[in-house]
This record gives sequence, structure tokens and C-alpha cells, in this order.
Amino acid sequence: MKCVILAAGVGKRMYPLTRTRPKVMVPIANYPMLEHLLLSAKSAGIKNFVLVVGYKKELVKSYFEDGSKWGVKISYVFQKDQLGTANAIDVTKDKVGKRFLVLNGDVLIKSDCIKELLEKKEEAVLTLNRREGKGFGVVKVDGGSVKKITEKPKDAKISLVNAGIYIFGRKVFDAIEKTKLSKRGEYEITDSIQYMIDKGTDVGFHKVEDWIDVGYPWNLLDANEDLLKYPLKSSGKAIDEESKIEPYATIHKKVSIGKGTIVRNGAYIIGPVTIGKNCDIGPNCFIRPCTSIGDDVRIGNGVEIKNSIIMNHTKVGHLTYIGDSVIGEGCNFGAGTIVANLRHDDRSILVKVKGETIDSGRRKLGVIFGDGVKTGINSTLNVGAVLEDGEIVGPGEVVR
Ligand code: UD1
Ligand code: CA
Repeated sequence: MKCVILAAGVGKRMYPLTRTRPKVMVPIANYPMLEHLLLSAKSAGIKNFVLVVGYKKELVKSYFEDGSKWGVKISYVFQKDQLGTANAIDVTKDKVGKRFLVLNGDVLIKSDCIKELLEKKEEAVLTLNRREGKGFGVVKVDGGSVKKITEKPKDAKISLVNAGIYIFGRKVFDAIEKTKLSKRGEYEITDSIQYMIDKGTDVGFHKVEDWIDVGYPWNLLDANEDLLKYPLKSSGKAIDEESKIEPYATIHKKVSIGKGTIVRNGAYIIGPVTIGKNCDIGPNCFIRPCTSIGDDVRIGNGVEIKNSIIMNHTKVGHLTYIGDSVIGEGCNFGAGTIVANLRHDDRSILVKVKGETIDSGRRKLGVIFGDGVKTGINSTLNVGAVLEDGEIVGPGEVVR
């Protein structure tokens, strides 16, 4: 059975992180989100993948190539314009067989959940309970079948929502052909599913508990925490033989350290933490749980980092605190940069996304940096600050 993964979208709600990479290539626990998903499907027994690519497709192709590195077969289909999820599935028509699996590229799911879905009806939708159905497809069921699927309703409280994972037979292509443009100006697979139901197809469903939808940058922090605690990818040896740990560095719990990385004396690391290749860590720094540090990163003296994603080539030289943050590639932190990550009024942190203020729902959230952001010495960054690629913060400046 083939598995189609939809990975052509931009992920605008993830700006600035998706200006230089498609959403599916954003790293979580030091590997692209798509890699975790692919490995999950592989563990469920899938060996043959069709990736639908579009926005910055070269980055996806050059990373995964033909899949042989992962022991799977990958072929690619180019979706010229991102006309919606129904269209994205439609472009794979000539590549898939009688029954196939479809995964949205921007979700994380355990392999058991995929396996269980495969045992359901000929066509079926993976679902889960959410306190807030807004922003999802809301699913109404009766017995073992889906009766109604409504995309992004205005007010949906506690609901069963569509996880963006499906099993389809070929009749989905007829339904896609009949699917009209939605209110949002897209051809949406949820409308195609409704069409099938209306025409008498018995669409099944399977309800799961564990699922992560990566829509906004702060969702990366939950996903990172989850994947560091319960990795899908076995990273081989946790501490690479070709790394160097000085005798007075302290390493507690699950910590992985890549080839060519040096951890200097006085570094205190509490896992789960992952550190990539060729990094220079310490002396005298504190790396706290649920932190992912990419390749070629410098974490210097007097730096504390907690529950964050720090991407490749970023330098945090000295006397800096970073908590609950996502930091892009090639950023540079001036000495004394402090990130605030908690509101004292206990309210959740608001973030500006595409010009709109969104409640992150998080009590703790630091900053989101694009690539190449530079902060001046003694700069202060308030909760929820988002800095675009290449932005510069002056010495002593306060960013709100
Ligand atoms: C989708 C579902 C929604 C579900 C949610 C779960 C639809 C219409 N809605 O909404 O019911 O609850 O996922 O996360 O499917 N993509 C392409 N080409 C396109 C459009 C999208 O490849 O033309 C890819 C995106 O890159 C992404 C995936 O498809 O990986 C899902 O698209 P997205 O726009 O994120 O759908 P949602 O609005 O999240
Ligand atoms: Ca999505």
C-alpha cells in the first residue's frame, strides 16, 4: 500500500520560520517534522511513499531523495499551485493503487494509530476529541460511520475533529472531481468526503488520543517536548564516539550529542536534550530539559536555555537566558540578552501572526526568531515577541 504525504503548502501561520523552508522541513528534536511522520508510517508497515511537494520543493527532495537512506521508496509529485487538500490528493491519481493512505504533512502521529486506521473500513478518517473545534474539520458520527464533516465551523466547542489522516479507495478521485471551491477558495478534501457520504459511501472513522497538529510556531515546543521524551527516530548511539565531553561536565538523563561536538567543563545538561554535530557547548552553561540544539551551534559561558529549539549555526556566546523559544538558523545573541517567558498575571501569552493577535494558550512562551536575527548586548525580549529573518535588536533595547 502506498502512502501519500501532503507537503506542498507554505505554512504561512508559521512565519517567519517558513520563509526559508517549507513547514514540513522545520526541525523538531533536530529532524524535519516530515521525517518523524515518515518514520511513523514506516513503523506501521508502509514502504512506498508519494510526497506531494510545491513550495520550496527542492529542500524536501534534496533531503529525502529516493528514500533509500530510510529503507523506503519515495517518489514526488509536483503540485503547481496550492489549490487545496483535495487538489493535492488529485495530483497523485496516477501514482497510487486501489487503496492508499493519506497523511497531512504537518501533523505528528504514532504508528499504532496508523495501523489501527488501516484495519477500518475501505475509506476512513482518523479523528480525536478537541476542546475547541475551531480551525479544524469537525466530524459527526453515528455508530461506526461518519455522517457529516464540516470544515472550520465558526463555533464548535467540544468536538470530534479530523486529524488529517485518511485511508481511501479510488472512488475518492470521482468525489474530488465533483468538489467545488470552498468559502476559503480551496478544493478541500473534507468536501470530497462529504460528497462520498452523500452518495452513499460508508466512511468509517477511528478515534485516537495522541496527535499533534503543528499549526503555529509555539506548537513546535509541544511537539519537541513529546518527541524528545518519546522519540520515533532511533538516533543510534546517544553520545557519538567522535564527540568530546570534558571531565567536569555534567550530563543527566537522556541526552544525545552529535559527532564533533565538544561539551566543556562546567556545562550542566539535564535531558531530554538533543545536541547536533560540531557544536561548542560551555564552559559553565545550563541546558535544561526539552531543548533541541542543531548543528554547529555555540552555547557559551553563563548561558541558560530551557525548553527551546535552537537551529543550526546559531551563536549564544555569553550571559544569556532563552526559555520556551524557537530560534531560527544563524542567529547571534549579544552578551546579556534576556528572554522573558512568563506573564505574571497568569494569563496566556498573545502572539502576532500574519498581522493578527492570536492567543497561544501557553502560560510560558518566549520568542520566535526567523533566521539570522541578531540581538545587541543587554537586550530584553518580552514574551511572545516574533522577529523576522535578519532583524537586528540594538544594545539595551527592549522588544515587546
Ligand atoms: C486540514 C483539514 C482539517 C483538519 C486539519 C488537521 C482540509 C480541508 N482540512 O486543515 O479538516 O482538521 O487539516 O490538521 O483538508 N497542502 C498541500 N497542498 C494544498 C493544500 C495543502 O500539499 O494545496 C498540505 C499542507 O502543506 C499541509 C496539509 O496539506 O501539510 C494540510 O493543509 P492545511 O492547509 O494545513 O490544512 P488545515 O487548514 O490544517
Ligand atoms: Ca494544518
